[in-house]
Amino acid sequence: MKKVTVIYWSGTGNTEMMAKAVAEGAESDNSVVRLLSVDKASAEDVANADGVALGCPSMGAEVLEETEMEPFVASLEKVVAGKPLVLFGAYDWGNGEWMKDWEERMKGYGANLAAEGLIVNLTPSDEDLHACKELGAKLL
Ligand SMILES: Cc1cc2nc3c(=O)[nH]c(=O)nc-3n(C[C@H](O)[C@H](O)[C@H](O)COP(=O)(O)O)c2cc1C
Repeated sequence: MKKVTVIYWSGTGNTEMMAKAVAEGAESDNSVVRLLSVDKASAEDVANADGVALGCPSMGAEVLEETEMEPFVASLEKVVAGKPLVLFGAYDWGNGEWMKDWEERMKGYGANLAAEGLIVNLTPSDEDLHACKELGAKLL
C-alpha cells in the first residue's frame, strides 16, 4: 500500500478545495490517503509517507503563509530528500512567483518533484479540480 499524505493551509477555502481534489486523485486500490490541515500535521507525517502533496496559497507578498505553513515547510528540510512531492495552491493578483520559489526551495531540500506546481486563480473551477485530481494521481 502506498501512503499518500496531503497537507495544506487555507484561509478562505480555495486551497482546501484543491487539497480535497488532490487527495481524491491519489485514491486507488493500492493507496491510503491522509488529508491534514497543517496545524494537525508534523514532519513525521511527511517522513512516513511514500508520496506527499503540500498546498498553500500565495500570501504576504508572494510568500507562503507565515505563521503555520512557513515553519512547517522549514521543518521538512531534512525529511524530504528523494521523496515524491507535488505542490499546489490558490492565488489572486500575482504571477505565481511564490510557487516558483517554493518549487526551487523543495528541490533544494532534495525532494523529487513529481509534477509542476499547480496554481489556481481564486476559487477552483471544475476544470481546475480535475487538474488537482490529476496532480494527486502523479503520486501513485
Ligand atoms: C494577506 C494576504 C496576502 C496575499 N498575498 C497575495 C500575493 O502576494 N499574491 C497573490 O497572487 N495573491 C495573494 N493573496 C490572495 C490569495 O492567495 C488568494 O485569495 C487565495 O485564493 C487564498 O487562498 P485560500 O482560500 O486557500 O486561503 C493574498 C491574500 C491575503 C489574505
